Amino acid sequence: MTTTLITGIAELVTNDPTLDGADHSEGLGLLRDAAVVVEDGTVEWVGHGADAPDADQRVDVEGRSVVPGFVDSHSHLVFAGDRSAEFAARMTGTAYDGGGIANSVDATRAASDEQLRALVARRVDEMRAQGTTTVEIKSGYGLTVDDEARALRIAGEFTSETTFLGGHVVPQEYADRREDYVELVSGEMLRACAPHAKWVDVFCEPNSAHAFTGEESRTILEAGREAGLLLRVHGNQLGHGPGVQLAVELGAASIDHCTYLSDDDVEALAGAADTTVATLLPGVEFSTKSPYPDARALVDAGVTIALACDCNPGTCYSSSVPFVIALAVREMGLTPAEALRAVTYGSAQSLERNDIGRIMVGGSGDLTLLDAPSYLHLPYRPGVPIARALELPGQ
Ligand code: NIG
Ligand code: FE
Repeated sequence: MTTTLITGIAELVTNDPTLDGADHSEGLGLLRDAAVVVEDGTVEWVGHGADAPDADQRVDVEGRSVVPGFVDSHSHLVFAGDRSAEFAARMTGTAYDGGGIANSVDATRAASDEQLRALVARRVDEMRAQGTTTVEIKSGYGLTVDDEARALRIAGEFTSETTFLGGHVVPQEYADRREDYVELVSGEMLRACAPHAKWVDVFCEPNSAHAFTGEESRTILEAGREAGLLLRVHGNQLGHGPGVQLAVELGAASIDHCTYLSDDDVEALAGAADTTVATLLPGVEFSTKSPYPDARALVDAGVTIALACDCNPGTCYSSSVPFVIALAVREMGLTPAEALRAVTYGSAQSLERNDIGRIMVGGSGDLTLLDAPSYLHLPYRPGVPIARALELPGQ
């Protein structure tokens, strides 16, 4: 058992509404001149530096800021190849319709386990180097029983937040018999994948010929739930559609994208604020030249929101949470405090986790260090690598 005292924290964001002496005005539980004690990965003490207890070792962060480790609750890291040409075409006007996913499926099926594992390891390292300490990872570029199960086994080597996304698109070999594919996903493929997954997800998007209708999505999600998985949904990305209402009706923990929302969708999300988080992915709007959703309006309506990267080869090949924070503040009407809360507390909530996304006694000791005097620098210094996961020797 090693205790580590982290001192010299100019500004500590805890997201703990009960912390004595903290500034709670923006919901961040913000403490200045703070210190934290971590023991074997768990927070043991939080308070003012002047009151800090002794510990086995001491790490002085010399006037930098510390925030809860970023929780990136939506990613597709298990893929091979890249689609940079598709990105370039979009920048000159080609629309995204999900058709390019087939290219990533081909490249991923052709890769060896070792190659895929190395690719995921590199992406997870890239994330930690930018402050992300928890990542959710989906399958979805295998789309056969064996390739989906393999993707989830590899994802599980890096995170406990694994998501079965056999219902990503209808693969080319099933193009003219999509009902057979829905049956495969909800039957044999699910049975092979469920032991390796916590979540089931589906790309519910009737606006794409490649993705799934509301009814197909319902079949897949209900089968997933029957197999013991928890629900998340991709929806309302390319246009208005049934994804939000379906996610709310089924009590999904998260409905992701929410680019196109009707008033009824917003009302449904506000009514489901305790169960369903609206996860916004502004890197996708950036990389597909789509309109940004109005996060301000969602928060004002009482919707619970999260922000995540959606790192994937098609719609957003960025693993940078600070980039997402900057977009949310600049383009979506969130305050810096709301954006930071959404990539920590909000995204933890979307994963049904209360041990991460905040810094409080008994919770996770996953901390992110900012090379800056305040969290305000996250959107204020876009593109500058000020955030990184804090590595504590011996922990
Ligand atoms: O979250 N929308 C569906 N799936 C991914 C994109 C997948 C891809 O284009 O490779 C997303 O945007
Ligand atoms: Fe996605």
